[in-house]
Amino acid sequence: MNPAADINDAPLKSLHVGVTAAMVMRLTGEEAAHTDPGRTYVGMLDTGAGRDMADHVASHWPYARVHFVLRKWQLWAWMNALAINSPALGRQVVVLGAGWSATGIDWAHHCIDSRVWEVDLHHQADKEVLVKRLFPVVASRIRMIEADLSNLGLLLSALRAHGWRADRPTLWIAEGLAYYLEPPRFAALLRAALTFHTANRAVVEFGLSHHLLRDDVRTRTVAYHSYLASQIGLPSLQAVDPSDFCLRSGAIPLAWADPSSMELARNGRALTFRSPEDSGMRMSVLGPA
Ligand SMILES: C[S@@+](CC[C@H](N)C(=O)[O-])C[C@H]1O[C@@H](n2cnc3c(N)ncnc32)[C@H](O)[C@@H]1O
Repeated sequence: MNPAADINDAPLKSLHVGVTAAMVMRLTGEEAAHTDPGRTYVGMLDTGAGRDMADHVASHWPYARVHFVLRKWQLWAWMNALAINSPALGRQVVVLGAGWSATGIDWAHHCIDSRVWEVDLHHQADKEVLVKRLFPVVASRIRMIEADLSNLGLLLSALRAHGWRADRPTLWIAEGLAYYLEPPRFAALLRAALTFHTANRAVVEFGLSHHLLRDDVRTRTVAYHSYLASQIGLPSLQAVDPSDFCLRSGAIPLAWADPSSMELARNGRALTFRSPEDSGMRMSVLGPA
């Protein structure tokens, strides 16, 4: 009997996803992914751990679901627009703090000459096994790396060791990551990411510093972030002051989006968020200064 054939013939097991990733996937449903393979992958994950948290968030902060859906839509819309304007950018994509997201899988399917590197502290080994089982051909375009993004030297060595080329344009993605890194570290990471090539771009999502928020938005954001932090076991979630961030990272924002602009662009109407002040969530396309 061939043992390799045995492993490949074994039924696919669904993987248990961490509580916050599971919560996001339960809230976003189909919109957690953008391609059929991405949705197949998400459908293989066991999101049971996030059930209580998703129920709690949906009843206390119903706008959070809309945030997740909009940020995933905006990310995909920008990735496509950037790759159409500059095809070389779409061929090297690094997803920072990828977690269980379908972004890399979606992109590797969507853009057949792409190479994707996903980096996270955790989960990548399990995720790699599942993706190789589900999509063996496309999996060869994706490298999954477990590394601490606070350690730039190690990150860059790991990327290089997995075939990333610093001398080619790279599109860097940081969705849902800024909340976990101290702002100076996040800025240093983006400074490094954008430095290697003048054509490099980054799409980032973050929460605005509390002093920049309208009173009612600050109150609900603090309550929501405190709840998330308590579930993850962190003292707090990080927030970003864009002026300070640009100063420290040397990045130039080339485009901004907030939930009201995203809703307008996606749905033709801003319903949940009517103005930028209605939310502290922001997304930006960054380029090197
Ligand atoms: C909220 S999740 C976002 C996951 C994914 N980008 C998405 O939007 O679905 C944040 C991810 O950042 C990862 N992360 C946090 N700090 C990190 C660090 N220092 N190095 C690498 N990954 C980190 C976490 O493990 C987690 O998977």
